[in-house]
Amino acid sequence: MSAFDTARLRADFPILRTQMRGKPLVYLDTAASAQKPQVVIEAVSNFYRHENANIHRGLYELSEQASLRYEAAREKVRELLGAADAREIIFTRNTTEAINLVAWSWGRSNIGPGDEVLITALEHHANLVPWQQLCAERGARLRVAPISDDGELELDGCESLLGRQTKLIAAAHVSNAIGTRLPVKKLAGLAQARGIPLLLDGAQAAPRFPVNVRELGADFYAVSGHKLYGPTGIGALYARAELLESMPPWQTGGGMIEQVSFERSSFAPAPVRFEAGTPDIAGAVGLAAAVDYLRGVGLARIEQHEAALLAEAVLRLGEIPGLRIIAGGEQQTGVLSFVLDGVHPHDVGAVLDAEGVAIRAGHHCAQPLMKRLGVTATARVSFGLYNTSEDIERLAAALRRCIEIFR
Ligand code: ALA
Repeated sequence: MSAFDTARLRADFPILRTQMRGKPLVYLDTAASAQKPQVVIEAVSNFYRHENANIHRGLYELSEQASLRYEAAREKVRELLGAADAREIIFTRNTTEAINLVAWSWGRSNIGPGDEVLITALEHHANLVPWQQLCAERGARLRVAPISDDGELELDGCESLLGRQTKLIAAAHVSNAIGTRLPVKKLAGLAQARGIPLLLDGAQAAPRFPVNVRELGADFYAVSGHKLYGPTGIGALYARAELLESMPPWQTGGGMIEQVSFERSSFAPAPVRFEAGTPDIAGAVGLAAAVDYLRGVGLARIEQHEAALLAEAVLRLGEIPGLRIIAGGEQQTGVLSFVLDGVHPHDVGAVLDAEGVAIRAGHHCAQPLMKRLGVTATARVSFGLYNTSEDIERLAAALRRCIEIFR
């Protein structure tokens, strides 16, 4: 294992001290939602205890302070993603909402009949269905870049689908279902050569390694707070300023306007233009604490630690008879999907649960990918900064128990 003080870090996560089914919890479902360190829990509860007021409205000190906390959180997300300006960060509920924002605002202004949107075969439904809906509505076409049997994006296949009609490339940075890390700089090169934007679904990447949207060449980058060890209900979209300025609002109402009369309304500049209504202020404050925590631990160290765990898990699971790992490419990151001969992934999940081991089983919101891989579902293990070799031992033992029961 890496020189990572996991025991000390685990102590930061109260939930890891709980028991499930009478056994100490082994949490291997961080790709679904990361557990929260005490500092995040306290930041949210202290906000409600001492700092709560609505933002950007009140003329009193408490509201001013809450507004400052909210805007400071925006600055933290800017730092995390390496954006040039905090005005390029829009708070959303999650990655899904961030992608929908782009589809509704940028998409409905820029995609028309005969245009194409290129996604990849690895996408989560969140980066597929909004584009499918947009294309259906606009008479446009959704194209899908192929992947190899090893779970890698086929760049040649991707390039051959690009043409003058392509208006956007939308891709995962890391596949939530099989852990493939996509060659996003190459995708950015392809997009830039054609003068079209690149949107990246960063939900599984930003919690696992350092991300810099400017170095990557991403025009849009979407993340979820709860996968970044922060609260649920808060997420963010990075959008390059130049694009953002031309984008119309997608949700309208309070907070996002400049002037309103019964005849017409004018809208505030970004990012406020995209944040109608009272946002999740406590969520943003909690997310800021999570970003501080992650940066304190160090994303490069988290990356190393998870790579070591993944390598160890591949070895240990490889020893289990009848277990087939679904390849996630050469740069597989944080996530390991597998199937066990003769045992449905839901049954694998249920037996593991009885042993106190939490994993996700199913299609992982990536049904077309499952079809491409020739399976209906997989069992999926995903790591977080708090996982240990002991967790992998418990996983392997629980899988052996599964074989005893079903064979
Ligand atoms: N997108 C989350 C997952 O992969 C929910 O589990």
